[in-house]
Amino acid sequence: MEKIVILTGAGISAESGLGTFRDEDGLWAKHRIEDVATPEGFARDPALVHGFYNARRVQAAEAPPNEAHKALARLQRDFRGEVVIVTQNVDSLHEAGGAQNLIHMHGTLAGALCAACGHRWTSPPEMVVGERCPACNIPSARPDVVWFGEMPYHMDAIYDHLASATLFAAIGTSGQVYPAAAFVHEARMSGAQTVELNLAPSDGASSFDQVILGPASETVPSWVEGLLG
Ligand code: OAD
Repeated sequence: MEKIVILTGAGISAESGLGTFRDEDGLWAKHRIEDVATPEGFARDPALVHGFYNARRVQAAEAPPNEAHKALARLQRDFRGEVVIVTQNVDSLHEAGGAQNLIHMHGTLAGALCAACGHRWTSPPEMVVGERCPACNIPSARPDVVWFGEMPYHMDAIYDHLASATLFAAIGTSGQVYPAAAFVHEARMSGAQTVELNLAPSDGASSFDQVILGPASETVPSWVEGLLG
């Protein structure tokens, strides 16, 4: 059976109005990774970290899915084989666009996680320092997002999918963050065709069989039309 595994990054949500990380005016130009996206940063200044993710949660809740999110959902519905989306994004725009088979490898802004017992629940719109876990009552609630130095989620399932992929696509990701940046190599070893869709060639563009350049809201729908024939 044909199986498409799609990795998405911040670029697919850019045209929905959400900032990317490494573009010129991206999030990492305005915030230090070690302050807002590491367990050490959270231990040092949890209010700062909650403030960063609260702002992103509000922004993400207001952002509509764009034509690229919708086209991938259409591909999942209408393709004759299996289509798995693995996203590095913590927004919920794939779900809002209708995606079904979706893995959030870097977690989600919609979730809260207890740093003490690992319990997960739906995040309130605004998280505050000292919020208690509903399971163990310890005041150690944090956003359910993966920080630098932490293991991304669902890696066994992702590698299983890559091992049986016939086509691998990376959409709107800079290829600078591992392990996601190495998925193209895993897919190639499994014999999959590989394609990158990005505004400009990513750092890893030479590892792909094909590179399609342009804004995701235009390139993704036409790529999907091609696959659906
Ligand atoms: P980056 O900000 O690193 O890269 C965004 C990519 O999207 C770039 O390659 C852009 O060229 C491309 N892009 C921008 N606008 C686009 C558009 N309209 N259409 C298509 N492509 C476009 O974001 P990610 O690769 O997602 O992790 O970053 C990976 C991880 O680094 C994130 O999940 C996050 C971050 O630090 C954590 O916080 C753990």
